[in-house]
Amino acid sequence: MKQFISVNDVQDIDALVQKAISYRAAPFKDKILGEYKRVGLLFLNPSMRTRLSTNIAISNLGMEAILFNIHKEGWKLEFEDGAVMNGQTVEHIKDAAPVLGAYFDILCIRTFPSLTNKQEDYEEVFINQLIRYAAIPVISLESATLHPLQSLADIMTITDLFDPMRKPKIVLTWAPHIKPIPQCVANSFAQWVNAWGKADFVITHPEGYELDEQFSGDAHIEYDQSKALENADFVYVKNWSAYNDYGKVLTRDADWMLTNKHLINTNNARVMHCLPVRRNVELSDEVLDSASSIVNLQAANRVWAAQAVLAEILISQFN
Ligand code: CP
Repeated sequence: MKQFISVNDVQDIDALVQKAISYRAAPFKDKILGEYKRVGLLFLNPSMRTRLSTNIAISNLGMEAILFNIHKEGWKLEFEDGAVMNGQTVEHIKDAAPVLGAYFDILCIRTFPSLTNKQEDYEEVFINQLIRYAAIPVISLESATLHPLQSLADIMTITDLFDPMRKPKIVLTWAPHIKPIPQCVANSFAQWVNAWGKADFVITHPEGYELDEQFSGDAHIEYDQSKALENADFVYVKNWSAYNDYGKVLTRDADWMLTNKHLINTNNARVMHCLPVRRNVELSDEVLDSASSIVNLQAANRVWAAQAVLAEILISQFN
């Protein structure tokens, strides 16, 4: 594995999931794999789970992590080729990235979309320029359009719980939110479930919230949430802003918030969310605090997902 930006960087999803599961059983079995290697953790946005789980995974593999809150502590970066930098930006990514490439062995980066410039967001300008100019392996800690470490942990969590003798039904359902939220988690979950290929996959949302088809793929789109939820084994709850009417909030219809009533016709569905979650806006207390909720298992699995990816990069790029 040269980099980890999307599911396209993974040769065998099940093998990577099994590797993550093996690290959960024995976290320190590869303690010397990353000896003398240094990882730069670059954050342009807030994070709890991603930041801490990746730090723990780096430590479990014997590496050193250096955290840089680049949006608060670094120079304001310019990404446009040929820019005349007489405004707010101080340093071009062409100059900053090679420095980061010289200081570190691996770079991990979190950035969010603008939600105003669809083309720039969906071209993944930031992460692609970092890859190009840093010239060392890059791991996405969430980019403008995808959140692959979250999705790997999600597939791992489903693998932990589903009956391999029966094809599970997985439903990704839109949830209300008070403000525009990136499409990253929904895009990424859809991309991974499609690539995994072991589930009946349904996406349900109000009309207008269609995801980019490159990610929703062959998933069945159902605008009637209660119909979509029938016989579901796993229900992934997530808000996202509109892709077509880019970055817009088209509705805040509270009926879409998952409550116990919505779960009645499911197959005792397990309820997923990447967290952080706005309680009683996206998901009700009664669901989150019930045995149906597996959000904490998802969050715990983030450590092992990150460790599996880092180990794959160490083995393929440095050994
Ligand atoms: N799920 C997730 O990425 O959480 P954080 O934003 O806290 O890292």
